[in-house]
Order: sequence, then C-alpha cells, then structure tokens
Amino acid sequence: MRPPSSIVVLTGAGISAESGIDTFRDTDGIWSKVDFREVATPEGFAADPHKVHAFYNQRRAGLKGIKPNAAHFALARLEREFGGAFLLVTQNIDHLHEQAGSERLIHMHGELANSLCGNCGDRRLWDGDLSTDLPCRACGSRGRLRPDVVWFGEMPYQMERIYAALAGCDLFVAVGTSGTVYPAAGFIEEARAAGARTLELNLEPTEGTSRFSDAIHGKATEIVPAWVEKVLAG
Ligand code: OAD
Ligand code: ZN
Repeated sequence: MRPPSSIVVLTGAGISAESGIDTFRDTDGIWSKVDFREVATPEGFAADPHKVHAFYNQRRAGLKGIKPNAAHFALARLEREFGGAFLLVTQNIDHLHEQAGSERLIHMHGELANSLCGNCGDRRLWDGDLSTDLPCRACGSRGRLRPDVVWFGEMPYQMERIYAALAGCDLFVAVGTSGTVYPAAGFIEEARAAGARTLELNLEPTEGTSRFSDAIHGKATEIVPAWVEKVLAG
C-alpha cells in the first residue's frame, strides 16, 4: 500500500483514559454520573451557573499532576517525523497533546484551561476556579465568564480548517472516540468522500467501526505507538 502523504488524526476521551481522565460513555463514564443537559448545554448554564462552574472547576483541578501517556507522545512523534501534511484534531479539553509536544493541533471542543467571556468573546488562559462574580479581564463585565468549552448545540472551533484538511487527506485516523457526537462523528464520511483510507484505533469496536476501512482494537498506549512506528517505517 502507498504510504500516506496527508494525515488527519481525530482523538477523543479514550486517548486520555490511561492518563487517568474519565471518558464520557464508558461504564462509570462522566455522563453516567452527571446529566449532560445540566452541565454541557447553554441552557444548563443559564439555569444554574454555579453548578456548571463547580463541575468544570473540579475537572480543571483534577488535571493537576495528570501526564500525557505513550499514545499522546506517539502522535507528537508522528507530527515531527512524518514528512507530509499533518493535522491533529482533538475533542478533548485537556492539554495532554500539547504537553506531549503536539503543535499542529486543534481543540475543536475548546480548552478547560481557558475562560470565555459571554459578553465580548475574549478567550484567555485562566488559572484556577471560575465563578459567577468574576469580572472579564478584557471588557470588565461581571458574571459572564464561562469555561471555554463547546457545549451541545454550539458550533465547535475551526471547522473550516478541519474540513479543508479532511478534503485533502489520504489517511484519516480516529483514536479513542465513540464516534457518537457530531460534527466530529461525521469526519470519517468527509475523509471517505475525499478518497482517504480510514482507520479506527480504539479499545473495542464502536458503532461506527464498519464505516472504517481498517480497525485496530486495544489500549491506546499500545496500539497508537505501534501504528505510528509502522507509518514512519513506510
Ligand atoms: P466517549 O466516552 O464517548 O468515547 C470514548 C471511547 O474511548 C470509547 O469508544 C472507548 O471504547 C474508548 N476507550 C476507552 N478507554 C480506552 C483506551 N485505554 N484506549 C483506547 N480507547 C479507549 O468519548 P468521546 O468520543 O471523546 O463533548 O466523546 C465525544 C464528546 O462527547 C466529548 O468531546 C464531549 C462528550 O460529550 C462535549 O462535551 C461537547
Ligand atoms: Zn468580556
């Protein structure tokens, strides 16, 4: 098989699972304990901002001491050593990809480390907790800061750049994602329409496995480094 010349990788919560971050839909996942409508929708935030801040403050604090794993490092190595075009798109709001050294990276669902002002749109690094009484450091308005996390019903970031990369790729790889949340779940169809080969790397088969041309199942820390090794070996 010809080696790829342009790769798009999509990652989800499964790549961070072995670093100690809970996934969403596995048994004991986040959405088995918390109602996503209450903490991951604009309506939930309007109804109870204290609850939403508490949820994300706890998740932000929980990232302290969490480290990237072999799968994050392998994708950073792929970016450095692969000669062709490369884009890493993550649905994750943690910073493990950049901590592992990834640079050509899009956080399509936002970043837990950032605040977003609902008044002026200012996004900036926010160390510590967010609450309803803090002023925005750009426009000064109070009570409008929220986590810079894309909620259900909102448009993910940088979709034009992502679709352009998908339209030009010849290999699309989905890592550690259940493929249930759109628009990310539709990326495989975009890549297929562009004629790309498609590969699923996940702990177990997902509902969408049959849509991929290839699938490798196992722990991300094992299957991602092994796959990267193979790609770089040509
Ligand atoms: P999910 O929790 O839906 O799926 C995680 C996937 O990772 C599952 O298919 C697991 O089988 C797999 N997995 C678990 N442990 C793994 C491991 N060690 N190695 C490899 N795979 C493993 O998480 P996402 O697909 O990321 O959005 O969820 C997508 C979006 O839904 C999230 O970004 C979030 C959530 O609601 C928003 O909050 C907007
Ligand atoms: Zn503002």
